[in-house]
Amino acid sequence: TSTMAQTTKKFVPNYDESKIPPYDLPAALQTENGDRVQTAEQWNDRRAETLRLFEEHVFGIMPGQRNIKVKVVRSDRDYRPGVTRHELDVSILPLDSSTDRSPLVVQVLADVPQSDDPVPAILGLNFQGNHTIDEDPKTRIPTSWVRDRRNGTTDGSKAIEAGRGVASTRWPSKMITDRGYAMLTVYYGDIDPDFDDGFENGVHGLMREFIASLPENHRPGSIAGWAYGLSCVLDAIEQTEALNVDATRVGVLGHSRLGKTSLWAGATDPRFAMVISNDSGCGGAALCRRAIGETVARINTSFPHWFNDAYLQYNENESALPIDQHQLIALSAPRAIAVGSATQDEWADPKGEFLAWQTAAPVYQLLGMSSEDVKVVEEASMPNEQSVINAGPMQYHLREGKHDLADYDWECYLDLADRTLQTESR
Ligand code: GCU
Repeated sequence: TSTMAQTTKKFVPNYDESKIPPYDLPAALQTENGDRVQTAEQWNDRRAETLRLFEEHVFGIMPGQRNIKVKVVRSDRDYRPGVTRHELDVSILPLDSSTDRSPLVVQVLADVPQSDDPVPAILGLNFQGNHTIDEDPKTRIPTSWVRDRRNGTTDGSKAIEAGRGVASTRWPSKMITDRGYAMLTVYYGDIDPDFDDGFENGVHGLMREFIASLPENHRPGSIAGWAYGLSCVLDAIEQTEALNVDATRVGVLGHSRLGKTSLWAGATDPRFAMVISNDSGCGGAALCRRAIGETVARINTSFPHWFNDAYLQYNENESALPIDQHQLIALSAPRAIAVGSATQDEWADPKGEFLAWQTAAPVYQLLGMSSEDVKVVEEASMPNEQSVINAGPMQYHLREGKHDLADYDWECYLDLADRTLQTESR
């Protein structure tokens, strides 16, 4: 037995509200030097400051620059009646001129309802490969790193045929296209592998000079890498007319670690017209200072590579953070934001996700959310299961059940999209 194993104390999560330490949340609308933010113009500066705080203390810094090339490798017209299924290769080119690396090829699967005009879309990363979203024998199987889930869907390190369709309940393509939206998905491991590889592979490997130029504490973790990949996919949507997807009406969705990622993608890339956090929990929509369920110390122990090294300072020291997660949500303002939680997902702290959502309202208010909608958010209490709180661009719902992405979640997200992404509503 190792000394590590003997000295590491076992983490026992707290689920008792009465044991939450007293805390004050940083004010979203007050700058680091204490000035109150009272106008949309002042928010521009505070927004930039908030983004920088998240980069420096939580996720790490990525370059502003991206270079991509797109190739449409498949277009099955009438994959389903009225729906075209495309597969694209998005090549992300290395940023460093001196590199000998080849472009990183990210595979995109897109189900697009046929229409005269470009359609709105939801884009989300998936956990196991595009071939897992349904039984389609043609969908390519990823060749990039996959986790060995010991469930027969990999041969240990590579995805295999047996995985086809295993994640279909999370990707109800027919429901989405029937409602007039395209569904686009990408395997997250195509963008960056989910382990600490010392910035070797995935998008990090394309920018090693940039990363080396950053202070060690500010180097980007995997969440920043996946979010960068989502921006590259949005670039590809903009550049690919044949898709017929309206790049100005794309919602970015993610579940769990990929919900932390969709929030960060929405924060760093204001082109995303709607941001969706499904059960994102610690490091995502849940307030860190509540320290209930998964904590900063715990996530930094299990998944340190998701964040930058500066984040380690906040282990059991959440109140020292210059931000909390309501401000991550506020970085999506004034765009549509949906936060979804599930009753049995206590690890992700549904109440903390609700409170962060609620506490983001002043920023939405400053940027023009109606006073009725502000009132709805401010006066809300944690809803009952299977219910939704709608307030213009802000939506929160609580699903009955476990940590998952389910039909009910999608129905809620598409309802918000109907209210905010349809041309009539804009
Ligand atoms: C773990 C982790 C969570 C994360 C989840 C997931 O449970 O502790 O923070 O959200 O994995 O991504 O499935």
